[in-house]
Amino acid sequence: MIHAAHHFPRRFLWGTATSSHQVEGQNTGNDWWAWEQEPGRILEGGRSGDACGWWAGRWAEDLDRAAEDGQNAHRLSIEWSRIEPKPGVWDRDALDHYVTIIRGALDRGLMPMVTLHHFTNPAWFAESGGWLSESSPGQFDRYVRFVADSLKEFVGLWVTINEPNVYAYNAYSSGDFPPGIEDLNSTRQVLVNLVKAHAAAYRSIHQIQPSAMVGLAHHFRGMRPAHSANPLDRAVAGIRARMFNEGVPRALQDGVLRLPLKRVRLPDAAGTQDFFGLNYYTEESVSFEPSNAGELFSRGAFPAGADLSPTGFIANEPEGFWRALVWVHSFRLPIFITENGVEDAFDGLRPRYLVRHLRQLWRAANFNWQVKGYFHWTLVDNFEWERGWTQRFGLWDLDPDTQTRTRRASADLYAEICRENGLTTEIVGRYAPETLAGMFPSEGPGNLQVEMDI
Ligand code: GAL
Repeated sequence: MIHAAHHFPRRFLWGTATSSHQVEGQNTGNDWWAWEQEPGRILEGGRSGDACGWWAGRWAEDLDRAAEDGQNAHRLSIEWSRIEPKPGVWDRDALDHYVTIIRGALDRGLMPMVTLHHFTNPAWFAESGGWLSESSPGQFDRYVRFVADSLKEFVGLWVTINEPNVYAYNAYSSGDFPPGIEDLNSTRQVLVNLVKAHAAAYRSIHQIQPSAMVGLAHHFRGMRPAHSANPLDRAVAGIRARMFNEGVPRALQDGVLRLPLKRVRLPDAAGTQDFFGLNYYTEESVSFEPSNAGELFSRGAFPAGADLSPTGFIANEPEGFWRALVWVHSFRLPIFITENGVEDAFDGLRPRYLVRHLRQLWRAANFNWQVKGYFHWTLVDNFEWERGWTQRFGLWDLDPDTQTRTRRASADLYAEICRENGLTTEIVGRYAPETLAGMFPSEGPGNLQVEMDI
């Protein structure tokens, strides 16, 4: 067997990503907590409850796990409803608790990347109109200023908003997230306000901390025409991709938010990313579907024979990740993979998913694209929104009733990757031998052609 290695740049950040509501527990002051109590909202009646017990102190043991496994960074989020439980009222104890956690990360050698909004809103904010309200960007900015000012000594890497496109779509189009609205106009309005909020937050953080690196975490879902020779499939795949994948990042680049049947000029948003944060999970095939007006006459599905996760939620499509990276590169910004991972309670798919995706990232690094770090979703199984506890994304398994953590083989694999700062034939051979030939092609120049065919 050949012996080969794919190494990453020096000082590359290796971590995992988490979010407050999904790990902390007892986030009783936000809109999700109330939503979870309503019957039928969450699969199998799941509730966040104590989640992973982080607020009660288990953050420390989990960050120990991350650090002991060779990670050098961690992405976490701040819960707005804890910091500002009533409009304009700041909870200093909650803030101190975050300072303790973030210092805890630093003490363990984990560089913190802090997200300021990850799907949840304070109940008072939601009740006063949430992201539909014109005052929402200003309200968010007030909270951001308070947090940035309080944490500027400890944090230099900021994510303003996690996945505005997923949030707007799930909360205002499909109705799966609170407030459960299904209305195109509302979705558009919310996207406008989220972009305004990001732009305001970007400027505020820079005012408070000029050296800050500020971006957002953008969800890119690969969308390929089901039949590339079919012009209708190509057209609808293109429309879906432009709306879902391109709208927000382009607005942050040139200040124009391109929405279905509408363009909104938001000049303050132009040039408001210091890095591109990419969340990539999967790619779907899109076909023309005349009966599906609700989804712009298209339908997305995974290709026949796809390598699917246990609940069929994610297909293992690393080439889609490559295509996402090629597109992200066009922004000419430093790149962080702010999320990537797969639900897999049995850990049968995760090892090959992980190494095959990291190979694509390594290719990007080899073109000298400014790939700075990778945050795997996630460290320990957590509360997965409308899917409750039915999906397990953790390197560690969690029994939420007993709070028992059990190491999955993928935790060993990821630890070896972090320590090596790369992938070797030995590591891949131990954890995902079925991928070896594709991971380290060795048949000569013929393969080069395939490699370069982007
Ligand atoms: C992302 C989201 C995360 C996590 C992940 C896996 O869209 O940002 O919070 O839930 O999906 O489902």
